[in-house]
Amino acid sequence: MKKRILFICLGNICRSPMAETIMQRIVDEQGLTQDYEIDSAGLISYHEGEGADPRIRSHAARRGYRITHLSRPIRTSDFRRFDLIIGMDDANIDTLRRLSPDLGTDAKIHQISEFFVNVQADHVPDPYYGGSQGFEHVIDLLEDACQGLLQWIIDN
Ligand code: 4NP
Repeated sequence: MKKRILFICLGNICRSPMAETIMQRIVDEQGLTQDYEIDSAGLISYHEGEGADPRIRSHAARRGYRITHLSRPIRTSDFRRFDLIIGMDDANIDTLRRLSPDLGTDAKIHQISEFFVNVQADHVPDPYYGGSQGFEHVIDLLEDACQGLLQWIIDN
């Protein structure tokens, strides 16, 4: 059965579309494209319909990633459709828990730091109001977490 993964951040223009793009590349490289559905969404609708922030796009492009996702807010139906709903920081998790319709969907919510392998950190920080170093850091963290996530799925 297909595994459905939804990455969540606040605006859905920096962290979660980056995570979606990295995870898609990893599953494609492993020949697992047909086994996964990967998407992302935001907790605010302010940027709905916009492409990813040009700053993360340019940092991503240097590592060969092209982010095509358009920002959209999370919908209640996402809690049913997706198997794993993965937030970037504790504030994301608090909001997801508030939006989650029931205990069954609560169990799908994870903090991305659960999947770090080589990284010592407890969240992926919001890069929106920071400098270019923050965007590089976000991509470093997400590359590590997405590798860890695939391994976790395979092991569980
Ligand atoms: P993201 O970054 O949650 O990683 O997409 C942000 C994007 C926009 C805003 C905040 C964070 N904002 O406040 O508009």
